[in-house]
Amino acid sequence: MDFPAELKRLSSEVERGIDLYLPPASTPPGRLHEAMRYSLQAGGKRLRPVLVLATARLFPPQSPSPDPLAAAVAIECLHTYSLIHDDLPCMDNDDLRRGRPTAHRQFDEATALLAGDALLTHAFALLATAYASNPSLAHALVSELADASGSRRLIGGQMADLLAEKNERITAADLEFIHLSKTAAMIEAAMVLGGLIASADESAIATLRRAGRHLGLAFQIRDDVLDATADSATLGKTAGKDAKAGKTTFVKLHGLEESQRLARAQSDAARDAVRELRGDRGFLLALIDSMSTRAR
Ligand code: IPE
Ligand code: IPE
Ligand code: MG
Ligand code: MG
Ligand code: MG
Repeated sequence: MDFPAELKRLSSEVERGIDLYLPPASTPPGRLHEAMRYSLQAGGKRLRPVLVLATARLFPPQSPSPDPLAAAVAIECLHTYSLIHDDLPCMDNDDLRRGRPTAHRQFDEATALLAGDALLTHAFALLATAYASNPSLAHALVSELADASGSRRLIGGQMADLLAEKNERITAADLEFIHLSKTAAMIEAAMVLGGLIASADESAIATLRRAGRHLGLAFQIRDDVLDATADSATLGKTAGKDAKAGKTTFVKLHGLEESQRLARAQSDAARDAVRELRGDRGFLLALIDSMSTRAR
């Protein structure tokens, strides 16, 4: 398997899906739809939607086989909303995202807030409409994404992350809760959505959950390491901002070298979980591997 070529193929499929499933920029009010597309079509690694597509095809095709593309786009809409809000002045106050000025810099705070709200809502509308012919699947996808992005997980993690700023008493367990919630929940959900669309059985879904959780932890540890070591041009977002904001990160708590070791261990655990599944796992294993050494 040619991993870079396959990654490129799946990413272009995601780009096509985004263009297809998002309202045109000319939809009134144009400024809002333009802002939604501005943030979503700025690139990004597309890890979560690629995971949906790659996980779905691990399992034998059903008849009829639901197309995972709408779910892939839905999770990328949700992720992008979380980035737009994460960058707002009341949160991380960032100027650069995906190599471009952040949404509130390019437009204004209210437009960025509303574009985020609209992407969040659109994610669920997309799941409900695209899978309407299979109501039990639509229900399972909506519940999974709602659970992963709600107050106990993604949003809860974002809250805990802000509460932990400049708090010197944060423990390794507190930090693990933050990483699991703000980041791993969505990566886990991406794999589970792929599994649900492919009618994976309960035991396979549990394995996907475990793989996603480990990959999510590895991913956020690497994000912390890159914030401390990479430059803004490579990252496409401001480097060095965690230390400046007094964030509790893996680097702050464990140091650089140990953080990289921990990321590697989580990544290995994710690969071990994926190896428990049948099907052609080559691409997923390579994707997980590439994420723990990624440069951006
Ligand atoms: C950034 O996510 C936020 C984190 C959870 C670390 P990504 O690193 O996946 O951002 P994009 O989608 O590639 O821009
Ligand atoms: C945010 O974590 C994770 C989200 C849910 C958006 P960070 O605040 O570390 O993400 P970056 O570094 O700004 O992408
Ligand atoms: Mg943040
Ligand atoms: Mg941030
Ligand atoms: Mg970060």
